[in-house]
Amino acid sequence: MLAIRVDRAGGPEVLRPAEVDQPVPQPGEVLVRQTVAGVNYIDTSIRRGRIPRDLPFVLGREGVGTVLATGAGVRAFRPGDRVGYAETPHLGGYAEANVVPESELVTIPDDIDDSTACALMLQGITAHYLCTSTYPVAPGDTILVHAAAGGVGLLLVQLAKARGARVIATAGGPEKVALALAAGADHVVDYRATDFAPEVMRVTGDAGVAAVYDSVGLDTWERSMAVLRRRGVLVLYGASSGRVPPLDLQRLGSGGSLYVTRPTATDYKRERSELDARANDLFDALRAKRLTVRIGARYPLERADEAHRALEARETIGKILLDVGAA
Ligand SMILES: NC(=O)c1ccc[n+]([C@@H]2O[C@H](COP(=O)([O-])OP(=O)(O)OC[C@H]3O[C@@H](n4cnc5c(N)ncnc54)[C@H](OP(=O)(O)O)[C@@H]3O)[C@@H](O)[C@H]2O)c1
Repeated sequence: MLAIRVDRAGGPEVLRPAEVDQPVPQPGEVLVRQTVAGVNYIDTSIRRGRIPRDLPFVLGREGVGTVLATGAGVRAFRPGDRVGYAETPHLGGYAEANVVPESELVTIPDDIDDSTACALMLQGITAHYLCTSTYPVAPGDTILVHAAAGGVGLLLVQLAKARGARVIATAGGPEKVALALAAGADHVVDYRATDFAPEVMRVTGDAGVAAVYDSVGLDTWERSMAVLRRRGVLVLYGASSGRVPPLDLQRLGSGGSLYVTRPTATDYKRERSELDARANDLFDALRAKRLTVRIGARYPLERADEAHRALEARETIGKILLDVGAA
């Protein structure tokens, strides 16, 4: 089958199409014939070797398609079922087929198309756990969402608004600002042109925000802490601009009894019931039109390198997909 194999860590050019053997499902695993594979920012870190993997490997942790075969002991899925996943221990997502542990698979309802479903796997489930569990947004909260026109960001703005928050957002450039506003953000700062921190203090009347959802990391985290209200929460969930340095915990006290957390999706969907509940909530939000998915770009599987170039150049909006087969 066709797959995107990484033989050495490096830039987008290391993403090479290759013919590889179709994987065989082991006990507890399901073989999925994919129609789309999701591109996520974390894939760029794995490709660069910042999150080391044994070489060679097929990149990608997300996909949607149809069950082709099941390994011994699989009970919940049968050939022909439509399924999606946000995580696999061995990656393998940028490929025509992948094996996925039964415990990681989500049933895709008939009324949700494959591309939309794929956007809701890692990025949707992340946006969901961030605003319902990590810092549960309450009606009337004012919060700050960075990179609000991105894959997670656009979904997070909408979900937080639906929970009754006042959402301040940042985005890079006028087109992204317009998109974040259209997604429901109340106030959006183009943080490439303007320092977001004084702007946040100005629009909150110097009160600061209850929580900052920060996926940018190095470039933003200090100013994110500075705009928190007393006892506010910094939810540092990514490092798109680089990893933050070690934090002196005393700063939390002097900053106003602040909280900092560094969550990962894996810990918010460990139980099958939690994974299903989050996915079903997202499907319901789509049906109720509280949530819209924006597919920013799609590339043929063979052009995964182009998708990565655009993502790292900050050129993308919403979800980036690789087309693997007929949808
Ligand atoms: N912890 C978790 O559970 C979890 C789960 C999923 C994703 N994440 C993290 O969340 C972040 C967003 O993921 P995503 O897949 O939805 O990506 P994305 O937001 O669609 O793309 C990354 C965006 O980050 C912004 N950015 C700011 N500084 C950047 C820089 N120096 N280089 C590149 N981009 C920069 C850009 O938007 P602007 O142009 O608007 O600045 C860019 O479009 C990533 O850091 C990812 O690793 C974490």
